Amino acid sequence: MTTAEPILYNPFEPGYFDDPYSQFARLRELDPVHATLDGNWMLFRYDDCFRVLRDPSLSVDDRNIRQSRKAEQLEALRVEDRGEPSMLGLDPPDHDRLRRLVSKAFTPRSIEALRPRVQVLVDRALDRVEPDGHIDLVGDLAFPLPFQVISEMLGMPEADMLQVRDWSNQMVKTLDPVISDDEIRASMAASLAMQDYLGGVISWKRENPADDMLTALIHAEEDGDRLTTTELMSQVALLFIAGHETTVNLIGNGTRALLRHRDQWDALVAEPALIMHGIDELLRFDPPVQISRRIALADMEIDGRRIEAGTFMATVLASANRDPAKWGPTADRLDLNRADAGQHLSFGSGVHYCLGSSLAKLEGQVAIGTFVRRFPHATLDDVPARWNGRINLRGLDALPITLR
Ligand code: HEM
Repeated sequence: MTTAEPILYNPFEPGYFDDPYSQFARLRELDPVHATLDGNWMLFRYDDCFRVLRDPSLSVDDRNIRQSRKAEQLEALRVEDRGEPSMLGLDPPDHDRLRRLVSKAFTPRSIEALRPRVQVLVDRALDRVEPDGHIDLVGDLAFPLPFQVISEMLGMPEADMLQVRDWSNQMVKTLDPVISDDEIRASMAASLAMQDYLGGVISWKRENPADDMLTALIHAEEDGDRLTTTELMSQVALLFIAGHETTVNLIGNGTRALLRHRDQWDALVAEPALIMHGIDELLRFDPPVQISRRIALADMEIDGRRIEAGTFMATVLASANRDPAKWGPTADRLDLNRADAGQHLSFGSGVHYCLGSSLAKLEGQVAIGTFVRRFPHATLDDVPARWNGRINLRGLDALPITLR
């Protein structure tokens, strides 16, 4: 290919789900600061993503977006007021106030205290499938584990997991860079159903307070200076959805990567403690969230390209994580011993750096570490990968594995 050929980001290119990385490599080399047809920009290099994510002059608040086809499309199909954004869609100081309210529950220390409970849940899940000699690693472990953990942390009632899974599945589609009108309608209907459901949960929790995050947030709401009712709702929805829609991909994609790189799997079998550090390499190699975002509030320049105020910029974390300018010639190799793997951008960077990163890593370490230890001879079934169809939260719907 020559530089004269136009190159376009195209998530519908055949084979994209199996391997988005070769397209990212082309874009990173030929057009790393990339204008999309619908008025957005995409950044493919590590340094650009890193700088933009940490730039305090940029916004995450969608209300600042101008001239984006997707933003117009979302606006045109909106079925009711959008309510308050969650902390992920708010800039300081509102962002900081909301983040402070829940951050205590997410310190590395509070999270480490959950390790024994997570181990129990993983052991139980694996005990259940062991007699069959077979597992769907996503349906039997990667999805239910984070769902159960975040439900317990929040203090949710026993939920109809499949129904909730279906709603959040539709809702997170709006995080994709390209989305159809039908998908937007389905997402908005799911979002309303989820709001109804969470509204019911919050009323129930008012009657049944306990030592959990939901009760703490309700108290903050009752002390009206700290949290409004709509803010309460969006914090709960964010924690609940972010708590399970992402970690499922870490466990699913991570296990698949190891089974497809048998030398790394064997290294983990030989040295189980390697998972403690190796989890960062799994996050780097095939990130559960492929893209984050910032919005320009004033005209700016990146690499000589002029970005206008109100422009949506997608920071392609999954491309940054494979940028040879950052990682050297081994950028595309899975290496659990990579010394600087922890510098991946899979959790974003700056003030919005993932609040749940310690929790996600803990769940990944226990789930993948225990699976490898118990089933060292496991093999992937010889079937095509079943991707979930999401461009951003790219992961598997199922991962069938024979245990021995
Ligand atoms: C492997 C799993 C996970 C990945 C890859 C991930 C990734 C991310 C990313 C990329 C961001 C945006 C950061 C930025 O733009 O700078 C984010 C924010 C966030 N994540 Fe996660 N996440 C994961 C798990 C979790 C879990 C388990 C929770 C909590 C229960 C969580 C809660 C949040 C919250 C609350 C934010 C917003 C933080 C803020 O705006 O200050 N995440 N996450």
